[in-house]
Amino acid sequence: MCGIFGYIGTRSALPVLVEGLRRLEYRGYDSTGVAIHDGDQISVHKTVGKVQNLQSVLPSEVPGTMGIAHTRWATHGGVTFVNTHPHASHDGKIHLVHNGIIENFRSLHRRVKAHGIECVGETDSEVLVHLMGIELAGGATPQEAVERTLHLARGTWGLSILFLDHDVLICARNGSPLIIGQGDGEMFVSSDPHPLSAHTQRVVYMEDGDLAILTRDSMKMVTHKGHSIDPTVTVLEDSWSESDLGDSPHFMHKEIYEQPEALRHCIAGRVDREMGSGRLGGMRLGHSTMVQAPHVRLLGCGTANFAAEIGQMLIEKMARIPAVTHISSEFRNNDPVINPKAIYLAVSQSGETADTISAVKEIKLKGGQVFGVVNVVGSTIARLCGQGVYIHSGPEQSVASTKAFTNMVAALTIFATQLGRTRHLSKAKGREIIEHLQQAPHLMESYFENPGPIDEAVALLAEAKSVLFLGRGLSAPVAKEGALKLMELAYIPCLAYPAGEMKHGPIALLEEGSPVVIVAPNDHLKEKTLSALHECRARGAKIILIHEEGDTIASEGDVSIAVPRIHPWLTPLLTVVPLQLIAYSTALHLGKDVDRPRNLAKSVTVE
Ligand code: G6P
Repeated sequence: MCGIFGYIGTRSALPVLVEGLRRLEYRGYDSTGVAIHDGDQISVHKTVGKVQNLQSVLPSEVPGTMGIAHTRWATHGGVTFVNTHPHASHDGKIHLVHNGIIENFRSLHRRVKAHGIECVGETDSEVLVHLMGIELAGGATPQEAVERTLHLARGTWGLSILFLDHDVLICARNGSPLIIGQGDGEMFVSSDPHPLSAHTQRVVYMEDGDLAILTRDSMKMVTHKGHSIDPTVTVLEDSWSESDLGDSPHFMHKEIYEQPEALRHCIAGRVDREMGSGRLGGMRLGHSTMVQAPHVRLLGCGTANFAAEIGQMLIEKMARIPAVTHISSEFRNNDPVINPKAIYLAVSQSGETADTISAVKEIKLKGGQVFGVVNVVGSTIARLCGQGVYIHSGPEQSVASTKAFTNMVAALTIFATQLGRTRHLSKAKGREIIEHLQQAPHLMESYFENPGPIDEAVALLAEAKSVLFLGRGLSAPVAKEGALKLMELAYIPCLAYPAGEMKHGPIALLEEGSPVVIVAPNDHLKEKTLSALHECRARGAKIILIHEEGDTIASEGDVSIAVPRIHPWLTPLLTVVPLQLIAYSTALHLGKDVDRPRNLAKSVTVE
């Protein structure tokens, strides 16, 4: 949600900034811009649209070795040229890019106006640069101008600021991620770690309230109270350098096909086959915590929420204790009752989703113990929780999440076996689950060898007014995930329902030819799901059926797609894959931008 990249060094800044933006683009792509300082002046280039659009308006060369860049996901103010970052102070002496929301921007706007300064756009960000400009004109140093302005501001920010008369880049963080990259004679700042991996492995994760003052060869960090701090330098994981497209046509395609390998990474070294248990060291779960936990609560948004719903069911099946999944934004706002003995799991690919961060803070404030189930190492949720499990998907760049979903499900499966073994799960049953889980990557590969009639499914879906997705038990969240994927990529209204609930409402939508996608693996609920299938067919619906290989129900679908057989508790790892392929192929067929669907952002860092 808005991407920031900044550079101060000796190289030409423009190509470094544009490449940084390109890698951050999945955070938002309503508009993009850069500001570059050449020692005498700051030149600004911006445009509505994606980085590609910016590249087409840029001159071939822009002198300058210091600059800031931004890719926007609009919150306050429309998608227009004037609302595009960077924003400049009234006298052009300061340029700034911002990620986050300034909640009191109206009152700050009045303050700016009282100084006779008119904002040119409608963004909340612009008031900050004017206030800094007023401070600087009044004799403040750049650091003082930033500190005094932020003292007045309420809300969230990741900021990168350029000053015409000073050889310095100032960055500030409060609620929106910023990471500093330390090179030799050069410094970088980025909203995400992976654009940094092309330049350096040495990074510093800024904390809320921190201010960083960067020169070419120094980094000074102070807290919001003005205390100097020694930055902790972390070495980036190797996997961040693997984030290029390679030979794949799209990131989504690449990431779908990376799932078997990603799954292997997630499982490796984390299961004890002999004991039939999970071995998640990072969870730091004491035996007594596991034995005494009265319940488990899982939190997440979007795809992470659906993975959490699967985790919830597996925990109840294996550990026989109550587990409930919450949408993070709802959880936090409903003044939740927190039991300090319960186990809370915050599930997030990016580790930066604002709603989930707020929920984690609420749990911690009330004495609860919360564990992260997160992909991005060192992300805010991972650091806030301080304990948990990294799902190890590697970088996921397509806005539509795929390999993070399957790895979240795998990590939660391992957690469920670990918790289950302290309670009701027998060693034999635990072993059975682990053996099947270890086979899942191979089974996924064998599915990719014969993915079935995806094109026939696309033909049924592409012109549909709406699509209904149905599944029961573990397949209900899979149906939701399939519906989300198709809706966000192909812009077709999709509805997902537990199959048994279909007759209580969605059945009214069905007419001759309505497509219905039904997820029906060979579990104890299959026969009941088939009843829903027949009810749909009786109303003229066309059925796209996801089933397991060798199952005679194949003949029930107008289009039937088989996935390899696996343990009934692990079917989501396989049944979701054709749904990902269907969404991807339908979007391509309709000429949509699969990696950058309209209005969405991969990492939603505002509430
Ligand atoms: C956004 C993305 C979704 C993602 C959700 C949660 O809405 O578009 O793909 O599932 O955020 O993101 P997280 O990083 O917390 O898993």
